[in-house]
Amino acid sequence: MAEDLNIITGNKAEQYESLVPQVKGLLEGEPDLVANMANVVAALKEQFGWLWIGFYIVKSEELVLGPFQGPVACTRIKKGKGVCGTSWAQAKTLIVPDVEKFPGHIACSSLSKSEIVIPLIRNNEVVAVLDVDSSEYDQFDSTDQHWLEQIVDLIVFKK
Ligand code: SME
Repeated sequence: MAEDLNIITGNKAEQYESLVPQVKGLLEGEPDLVANMANVVAALKEQFGWLWIGFYIVKSEELVLGPFQGPVACTRIKKGKGVCGTSWAQAKTLIVPDVEKFPGHIACSSLSKSEIVIPLIRNNEVVAVLDVDSSEYDQFDSTDQHWLEQIVDLIVFKK
């Protein structure tokens, strides 16, 4: 496993194109879900520097905070609540350009302005979500969705 990431400048797609093969390398040979989640959030933080990047894991009918990078965050989210709980309930990626306009948004940090949440689906069931927050409005689009869905698939299909 390479110990250092090669961090590049460039447009968003170029950054993902450079990062994703490196993430594959990081996950290679490691079946542990939490270890892989930890390296994924660290790699995304290094490349993109977003405010908050983390996983919430489905445990006993709640989302429970998992590996993350960024400020401290709320630990439990119920199904259907906030952006994360809605992504879980609908089993689909949600892009929120302005968090204040999302009904029921859970404000873990007042600095968060836009957000994308991607569900991890295994055997037709959501097992976790990846949540990414930016301190700027309108930071996420279909490019992020495309690449972040690929990244979470790398984790999901490890086992
Ligand atoms: N904003 C999220 C809660 C998690 S924090 O952003 C880390 C939500 O509405 O689900």
